[in-house]
Amino acid sequence: MLRIIFELILICATGISLYVLYQSRKNESKERYIIQEMRHISRKMYELGNEEEFIKEVCDTVQSITHSNEFAYFKYVPEEDILLASYVVGPYKNQLLQAKMKMGEGFTGYVAKERKAMFLNNANKSTLAKHVPGTPDEDSALLAVPIAFAGDLLGVILQTKLGGSTFNKDDLRLSEIFVNLAAGFIAGENYVSMVRQGFVDMLRVLINTVELKDTYTAGHSVRVSRLSEIIAKKMNLSEKEVTKIKIGGLLHDIGKIGIQESILRKSEKLEDEELTEIKNHPGLGAKLIIKFKMFTGVADAILYHHETYDGTGYPDGLQGEAIPISSRIIAVADAIDAMTFGRPGRGIKSVDEAFAELKKFSGTQFDPKLVDICNNNKDVIKKVLEEAVQIDEFATEEELEKISL
Ligand SMILES: [Fe+2]
Repeated sequence: MLRIIFELILICATGISLYVLYQSRKNESKERYIIQEMRHISRKMYELGNEEEFIKEVCDTVQSITHSNEFAYFKYVPEEDILLASYVVGPYKNQLLQAKMKMGEGFTGYVAKERKAMFLNNANKSTLAKHVPGTPDEDSALLAVPIAFAGDLLGVILQTKLGGSTFNKDDLRLSEIFVNLAAGFIAGENYVSMVRQGFVDMLRVLINTVELKDTYTAGHSVRVSRLSEIIAKKMNLSEKEVTKIKIGGLLHDIGKIGIQESILRKSEKLEDEELTEIKNHPGLGAKLIIKFKMFTGVADAILYHHETYDGTGYPDGLQGEAIPISSRIIAVADAIDAMTFGRPGRGIKSVDEAFAELKKFSGTQFDPKLVDICNNNKDVIKKVLEEAVQIDEFATEEELEKISL
């Protein structure tokens, strides 16, 4: 009898040990899975280019852990103090995408206001939750986590379980971990876009200053940039090189900021020392631009834009292919625009006359390959000149994306 009792105790003990072992293995594999997902998400932070793609990754991961039926990302709009549904996955996607919450309104608004992650089981019976029009009044559980960075609210992630399932503290804790990772990414995106916009505003001011100081018609820099881009693309250069040339075209005369206005505006023949001073502008421009880390690749394009193909240009008298392609392209674009829009003492030429000049100086002042490209694309070039684009038309969303070199 004693032996049977002992054997039964032994069997129970073995069972308990096996259960404990099974549970620890289960937790171990869950932890391993979570660590794996965290690594995956943190890698995605560097790979993915936009907020929606990243939120989608976070949604997939969080849903695979919490098994929620719905996932919604509400973006905070500080100007209106509201939360707007901007990404939704789940059966009531269309209804939720119409949702707009005031701060403090409903469960999502409450979590945003309190800046505290919470879950609410039996939400349909709670006064805190607000019923979203068009969705059935069924048993549901809600879990919401505010997204905040450096004290600023960025949005709220809301998850829903339908049909009587509930959330627990683990779901809340794990959702918080992944949402905090998302907060870093979203804040970074906002910061980059702010910095980009700041750069473009700065460029506008710099270019406007040069154009006001010089005798250029407004928009010279933008037109040189557009023409340079057309020629660079026809040369089949890489996208990065095309962007570099485009920015170089825009900033090519930035060094004139350091040249006396009386010299820049003089219509009579320049004295030797005045000529020497004006020839300093490519060097001054390159020196100025190299200080901006994102534009360092543009400095050479600016430095050599007054070199000529036969080696009689300045500042270094470089010849032929020794002149960077970016500078050779900008030189042609600059000449076309200067001839057709006019410079002091030189008058205005028609597009056909300007093209005849290009041909005349092909191989001496200009790279003959580029003159040929211009001739073959005369209509496109003519269109840019006729459109007379202004500086404010520069920097569309697409261009902002590509501005960093
Ligand atoms: Fe110049």
